[in-house]
Amino acid sequence: MASREQFSSRTGFIMAAAGSAIGLGNIWGFPTNTASNGGAAFVLVYFLMAFCLAYPALMAELIIGRHSRSNIMTALRFIAPNKSSRILGTGIGLYGVLIASLILSFYGIVAGWMMTYLAESVTNMAGWTEASAWLTGFSFERNMISMGIFMLLTMAIISSGIEGGIEKWSTRLMPMLLVIMVALIIYVFTQPGAMEGLKVYLLPDISQIKPALIIDAMGQAFFSLSLGVGTMLVYGSYLSEKENLPKLGVAVTLVDTGIAFIAGLLIIPAIYVAQHNGTTIVTDDGSLIAGPDLIFQILPSLFNSMGDIGVFVAFAFFALMTIASLTSSISMLEVPVSLAVEETPANRRQATLIIGGVIFCFSTIILLSFETLFEFVINLTTVYSQPILGVMLCIFTGWIWHRDNLLKEIKAGHPEIEGTWFWKIWPGYVKFFCPILILLAFFQSIAS
Ligand code: TRP
Repeated sequence: MASREQFSSRTGFIMAAAGSAIGLGNIWGFPTNTASNGGAAFVLVYFLMAFCLAYPALMAELIIGRHSRSNIMTALRFIAPNKSSRILGTGIGLYGVLIASLILSFYGIVAGWMMTYLAESVTNMAGWTEASAWLTGFSFERNMISMGIFMLLTMAIISSGIEGGIEKWSTRLMPMLLVIMVALIIYVFTQPGAMEGLKVYLLPDISQIKPALIIDAMGQAFFSLSLGVGTMLVYGSYLSEKENLPKLGVAVTLVDTGIAFIAGLLIIPAIYVAQHNGTTIVTDDGSLIAGPDLIFQILPSLFNSMGDIGVFVAFAFFALMTIASLTSSISMLEVPVSLAVEETPANRRQATLIIGGVIFCFSTIILLSFETLFEFVINLTTVYSQPILGVMLCIFTGWIWHRDNLLKEIKAGHPEIEGTWFWKIWPGYVKFFCPILILLAFFQSIAS
């Protein structure tokens, strides 16, 4: 077997994993979910879910990945001790690969919107009003073309294996996204209405915590950390034996939830500023507007209110969002492509072309019946399948994988871990608590 590529440094891995984690989930998904679930109560439950359930599941993926050095299906088959667990591993692996592909099929649509708003900032500067109207109008043609371009970019990166270059760029550019968001937050806070939004974002109303909120928060946490489908598993497979996995996992979780929190700090107050400027922000039943295009209504109106520099800010913001989406989308496409390359005679280019083409068709079908399919695919994949896959991976790690091998893998790289909390708690935690808690969240949502 050819020797496998590895991340050349710890920072290289953190960049790649953070690049995968940080994306539309943080800046589009988290604020939209917060708005539709009534604000601060959602934020609170989201953080609990991220650290108590998603982080342990992230560790399971990283540890399995580094141990088996392969894609999700091959990895689960590799650690399975007997025939029936190998069949189970194959099933879970294929389910994960399917879900990763379906996630990419809706992700490409939203990322395409980011690109149309990027293009619109240019047509706006040039004064081409018709082009601007087309770019921001919701038409099938616009949606399909922008999604197609985004898919082509994702496929080009995956087939040529230039992720390394992308990661380098994204590390230079992501701090800029942070800077722009912080600057925008400061601007928003000077506007009338912002403080009302800040209260909604930060002061939880515990009575809002309903089954639907809990399950949405869980799905959002799993989505934001790219869990369940083998993305983090395959990134872990490129990690060297020398790394301290629990620490890397904490770093990724902190950076990811931190960026989501900051995005919410921008968007939720901005909604109330927009209300102050005359936009209707509550629906007839009194809840906050929160459709998929929430941020595409709020942000442009914010940029417009800034005067002449608004279009430059818009350009920079949407350019950075497009790049953040690309470092996430490549990590999704890597899941089916790594399986195809390792398990079939296809080479990387062929695998990328075929799989990318199929996912493009999925996306087109979603666009053709947007009203029925878009939310449905998002819920099916992120709210239900990702946590269920998380349960399965925890069960695989805790119950099926030979315990000595598991412990040996955790210890690899830093034997002193035996004295830590992680060593004492985590193995039992993923074995019992994680699956039980995730399943409980499901049952109470189904029961209600
Ligand atoms: N976490 C990314 C985001 O927040 C999206 C993402 C990348 C993802 N890879 C994934 C989501 C795998 C689920 C599964 O935008």
